[in-house]
Amino acid sequence: MAEKRRDSFKSNLGVILALVGSAIGLGNLWRFPYLVGTNGGAAFIIIYLLCILFLCMPIMVCEFVIGRRSQANTFGAFKKLAPGTGWKYTGTLAVITCVILLSFYVVVGGWTIDYFIKSLRMVFTPETDFATEFNNMVSSTSENVFYTLLFLVCTAGVIVAGVKNGIERTNKYLMSALAALIVFIVIYAMTLPGAKQGLNFLFHPDFSKVTFRTVLSALGQGFLSLSIGCGAIITYASYANRKDNLLKTTTITTLSDTMFALLAGMAILPAVFSAGMDPSEGAGLAFISLPYIFANMSFGKVLSIIFYFILFAAALSSSISLMETVVAFLKEEYKKSRFGSMLIMLGITTVFAVFCALSFGVLSGFKILGFTFFDLFDYVSSNICLATCALLVCLFAGWRIKKEHFYDEITSGGKYKIPKWLLGTLRVFVRYIAPVIVAIIIVNSLIGL
Ligand code: PHE
Repeated sequence: MAEKRRDSFKSNLGVILALVGSAIGLGNLWRFPYLVGTNGGAAFIIIYLLCILFLCMPIMVCEFVIGRRSQANTFGAFKKLAPGTGWKYTGTLAVITCVILLSFYVVVGGWTIDYFIKSLRMVFTPETDFATEFNNMVSSTSENVFYTLLFLVCTAGVIVAGVKNGIERTNKYLMSALAALIVFIVIYAMTLPGAKQGLNFLFHPDFSKVTFRTVLSALGQGFLSLSIGCGAIITYASYANRKDNLLKTTTITTLSDTMFALLAGMAILPAVFSAGMDPSEGAGLAFISLPYIFANMSFGKVLSIIFYFILFAAALSSSISLMETVVAFLKEEYKKSRFGSMLIMLGITTVFAVFCALSFGVLSGFKILGFTFFDLFDYVSSNICLATCALLVCLFAGWRIKKEHFYDEITSGGKYKIPKWLLGTLRVFVRYIAPVIVAIIIVNSLIGL
């Protein structure tokens, strides 16, 4: 009975858009272009694509298999597929990862609203000192905390509207808007004087910059960008229908995410070069260099509004998937209502997020292992938790789920006949190759603590 009343997406397109929404996020918009630029351009892209193809996609398929087969939240999924074992704690780890990730993600999400509103009000002028503007904003308790909480409330609003009416509908609008706007910005960027240099920076392969670290960052970026290792895919897959083919959904999600990352690079880097600036990572690029560039270029005011809307939409669709993973867990495991689960999640995240927001201001001197709250949450979730969960997911799907069930889940749905060799190869990757490589990443990240 309970299963009949379980939430689900209306259509396969709904599943795909939700997964793409989760995948496309702040990771694509600023982290990817910078990583490409500092790690040998196209050389990094090639390594990234190999990592995605041979490691991230197989792990994504595993999460899919676990989610759809169990039709349960990320904790319930392991409990259902391996009753009476400790595997369920993989689900616990996934839920904790989501809380940590969401707590710092909403802070940056808040900045996107702040800058979107400032762009609308046209407060930026060529005379603005953007570094000071940004530092004042993040260190101001009231402004930073207010926008962090506003972003959190937007996320909660979508969650409480439900899977079909909230998540599916919001992702449909946000993803359509994102696709149209990013293409528009890329076309405009190609007309800028720095376009050639920007494309060179992005696509020129320089293998001399490739080291072991490059491979590690490519893999880490793959996990973060495809939302692997935090139960978000398991949760969304549990709302999917057996008529949908897993391999098709995985391929479309991965392709869209990668395309978007490349388009983001093609949109941002020409503008950076035409202004004669250096591309810098993260906050510096999106909230200091780019606003300066927008303030000094023709149509900059409109582009700035569009750009911060894109950042906001990408961040929102990702944070929705993080919150939904925990809400589904609370709802199903503790038999709470959707609204009640959302309130609990909102309460917990608010506390952590406020700590993260304040770590740029009044709590900037408070450090754990040399990290501020924000940096610690970022490092632990992106570099350790995602990979650890991904490792456990691989071991579970490879060694615990029966071969026939694994194959059955992958081949069901769609009109395609999946060749046997592909299934066999996939299983070898999941059982042997992926776990070893992911374990190496985890050890490396722990050393970095
Ligand atoms: N994929 C998101 C990004 O690229 C981040 C994310 C990770 C979202 C895990 C949900 C789950 O920014």
